[in-house]
Amino acid sequence: MKKVGVLISGRGSNLQALIDAQARLGAYEIALVVSNVADAGGLARAEAAGIATRMIEHRAFGKDRERFERAIDAILRAAGIEIVALAGFMRVLTPYFVNAWRDKILNIHPSLLPAFPGRDTHARALEAGVKLHGCTVHLVREAVDDGPILGQAAIAVTPEDTPESLAARLLPVEHALYPLCLAAFAGGNVQPAAFPLALNFWVPAKPR
Ligand code: GAR
Repeated sequence: MKKVGVLISGRGSNLQALIDAQARLGAYEIALVVSNVADAGGLARAEAAGIATRMIEHRAFGKDRERFERAIDAILRAAGIEIVALAGFMRVLTPYFVNAWRDKILNIHPSLLPAFPGRDTHARALEAGVKLHGCTVHLVREAVDDGPILGQAAIAVTPEDTPESLAARLLPVEHALYPLCLAAFAGGNVQPAAFPLALNFWVPAKPR
């Protein structure tokens, strides 16, 4: 059972999905939730589940992103965290943190990477006219929304879709994908074939 620390900035619905699936998947334990935003909804979700929480305001560190990350790193290590899962954590990580946790940080992103890294993914997908949209769980590398892909799930785009409708339809798919990817990565015994969406797992023997 791998000890996971989840970094959040907001409502924490993906955090909730990871919490809800942990007993069933039996491969990871969410041991700590760290937020950089004081009123992030995810903090209450963690507390309701009896999970330890910490708040590290990035603003308190001014422009010194690395000092902010060193504070997070110290908290994660003190808690014995083995894997870091980003779940709507809206700070770009510096090379210091990414390399300190290399091959141990996962992220979920609401697009089929490498298409549409960054923000406003749903609007940009519609603008590009893609017929398939989706989400990606990947290992974190220095470039934003880049790194070895662990899993993806796709949804069809309809002519009626808006950025809001795409986001609403994709969110439950994110919630299904992330726990499976985290469990597979943590070395758990998951059955991706049983999942109703096209999923592809890449578990790194020797990550790039
Ligand atoms: C999710 O849609 C996640 O994929 C996205 O933020 C949302 C967080 O929602 N992440 C990113 O855009 C990261 N680049 P949540 O707080 O309810 O999990």
